[in-house]
Amino acid sequence: MAGSMLVWSVYAKGRKQSQPRAVVHHMAEQPDKLEILDVLWASEADGTRLPVFRDDAAGRLRASEQHRAAALVDALPTRGGARGGVRGGVLDEAAVDDAFLAVHLELARLSEFVHVPQRMAQSLRPVVERLRESAEGPVRVVDLGCGIGYDTRILAATGALGPGVEYVGLDFNALLVDAARRLAHLEDIDVRFLVGDALDPELSMEDPDRTLVVSSGVLHHLGRDNLAPFFAQTARSGVAAFAHFDVDPGPWANVGAWVLHQTRMREPISRHDGSMSMRRAFTAKELLAHASLGVGAAYDLRCDEVTNLYPRPEQIVRPIIGLRRDLGDVP
Ligand SMILES: C[S@@+](CC[C@H](N)C(=O)[O-])C[C@H]1O[C@@H](n2cnc3c(N)ncnc32)[C@H](O)[C@@H]1O
Repeated sequence: MAGSMLVWSVYAKGRKQSQPRAVVHHMAEQPDKLEILDVLWASEADGTRLPVFRDDAAGRLRASEQHRAAALVDALPTRGGARGGVRGGVLDEAAVDDAFLAVHLELARLSEFVHVPQRMAQSLRPVVERLRESAEGPVRVVDLGCGIGYDTRILAATGALGPGVEYVGLDFNALLVDAARRLAHLEDIDVRFLVGDALDPELSMEDPDRTLVVSSGVLHHLGRDNLAPFFAQTARSGVAAFAHFDVDPGPWANVGAWVLHQTRMREPISRHDGSMSMRRAFTAKELLAHASLGVGAAYDLRCDEVTNLYPRPEQIVRPIIGLRRDLGDVP
């Protein structure tokens, strides 16, 4: 609730009373649920990995009433196979790595199935074109929370955004960044992958005027309380544009996502986390409210609702796009 109060008080200063009430009401109804991978990884700010105790990880899930998810964590091995001991023992890093890679490979297959990179390219092309018109020199696309870099690698490999585009992927999970680097090397794709925090991505932005920040499936991971600060950070960095893609929640989307994850994914963690993403995702209205709170009048914003009754799978992932005001309206 502390986060709700923060959003409420900032809203109350700058905006009409009718808007924030709806946001606070929604937050009170929806306790934060967790994805299993979220509780299996801990690191220092510089990316150094920290040990994760099994009871702590499972306990976080039980605290949000996710007992089946907690049981999956209970089943993971601990270092040296020790059972019990201090806080249930430290989770075995190799087993956790296997789980992360298996889930992210399945996620890549799902992205391929629902055409996420193509969907991204379709929305990003006009934005990149606008940056090309505004000045000379390469445009840099920075993919925050890139995971194993599937989307960025496909965009780069297919030249989907045209010539003169540099690609950088950033994730705070060093294991995934390492896998992204290896895959890009094997595929001979020119993308740089860095370990870093999406909430503080300065290191990947050398020239804000030529930078487009993107992400896919990350906003719901940041959590409601971090959304407005995340967008505010973007405004402070002064990047030319951003486009954050995430699933559009809704009753049909929830059912569709459940079916899609049950049929297309094999890993129990993938199935759980994939369906949970839908429950954690934000509506277009919420995204616009948090984004405008974060960026103020500095960016033109657009986030389209999915309005048809039976959305196609590729429609379920949609962007919130922001273009710096001096560059015009979102194309
Ligand atoms: C659902 S995965 C999406 C991965 C990839 N974008 C894709 O579409 O396949 C979410 C990713 O966001 C990363 N992530 C979450 N919060 C982050 C943060 N604050 N900074 C950097 N990465 C973050 C996670 O490590 C994970 O790789």
